[in-house]
Amino acid sequence: MRIWARSGLGAAALAVLGTGGLYGASEWVLRRSHAVPLGPIAVPHDAASLAEGSRLATLTGCKSCHGDGKGAVWTPVDWREGQVAPPPIARSAARYSDAELARLIRQGVTKEGRTVFLMPAWSMTYLADDDVGRIIAWVRSLRPAPDDVQATTWFGPVGRWKILTGATRPSVVAEAHGVAKRPADPGRYLTQVLCSECHALTELRAHDGNTVPPLAPMAASYAPAEFQRLLHEGVGAGGRNVGFMGTIVKENLHALRPDEVEAVQRYLRGGAAQ
Ligand code: HEC
Ligand code: HEC
Repeated sequence: MRIWARSGLGAAALAVLGTGGLYGASEWVLRRSHAVPLGPIAVPHDAASLAEGSRLATLTGCKSCHGDGKGAVWTPVDWREGQVAPPPIARSAARYSDAELARLIRQGVTKEGRTVFLMPAWSMTYLADDDVGRIIAWVRSLRPAPDDVQATTWFGPVGRWKILTGATRPSVVAEAHGVAKRPADPGRYLTQVLCSECHALTELRAHDGNTVPPLAPMAASYAPAEFQRLLHEGVGAGGRNVGFMGTIVKENLHALRPDEVEAVQRYLRGGAAQ
């Protein structure tokens, strides 16, 4: 009986220590400050740049993730996982300078230097300076609204465990990748910015519980008209259902222009993998 009591106490102590350790270690990862330098960024003010910034915000997912800029709750509160709630953009961005916003979008750190999670800086890091400037022009056109969703993102024990094991990846990208201007032939550029979050070029990859096919052979197997249909309507070759890819097209990628879809396919067919 006494032994039972003692081992029971031991297990309780271990559980407390374990929870404390998990909490402490994950809190360090969550709060840790990253020294990512700021760079200069030019933000345009003309109507055409703002319209293009708005289209880029659709393509890169700022709108779909952040509830059209008003904020959103993706996951209901669950004490194990926590809650993912991309905040209202205008409210959050108000305290940011343009250079800090550019760093948040491309390198995944907040004004204060902590890493964000789940926001895909690892693909948006390839955005060129001129496109980031246009996206910031769009951000600055947004205004806080009374119906903004003001829930916060937080992590429960399972959510914290995923952070510690790397299953939930920090967004911070230490090195800058962006070139000054969007290239005239944007095939490779758009593939990096818009597809590399989920797809590898030649290997199968797992993303959020989905199996994602390698892009280069997949795009090569598509007839041009079918590839256009895939990226505008989210319907696969021969009318097949392409699951999560269909959702991401309807939410984000449908805003690609036909000439851009063509450039992406040309790049992927022309030995992108080399
Ligand atoms: C895949 C979903 C996703 C996409 C795409 C995305 N975000 Fe986020 N964003 C989030 C999440 C989740 C958070 C909260 C993350 C955190 O606090 O760790 C966030 C946080 C932010 C913040 C607040 C930062 C702070 O100081 O708390 C701003 C501003 C922001 N995003 C702007 C943008 C813009 C602009 C874009 C498009 C270029 C974008 N986001 C694209 C999910 C996304
Ligand atoms: C957010 C993740 C995500 C992004 C971003 C994404 N894809 Fe996909 N894609 C998927 C998933 C998941 C599948 C597998 C869908 C299935 O069959 O269940 C897929 C499938 C595909 C397929 C194969 C369709 C078929 O016939 O089976 C092609 C081609 C493709 N994607 C092209 C692209 C291109 C081009 C881009 C960028 C412009 C892109 N994807 C961006 C997740 C993504």
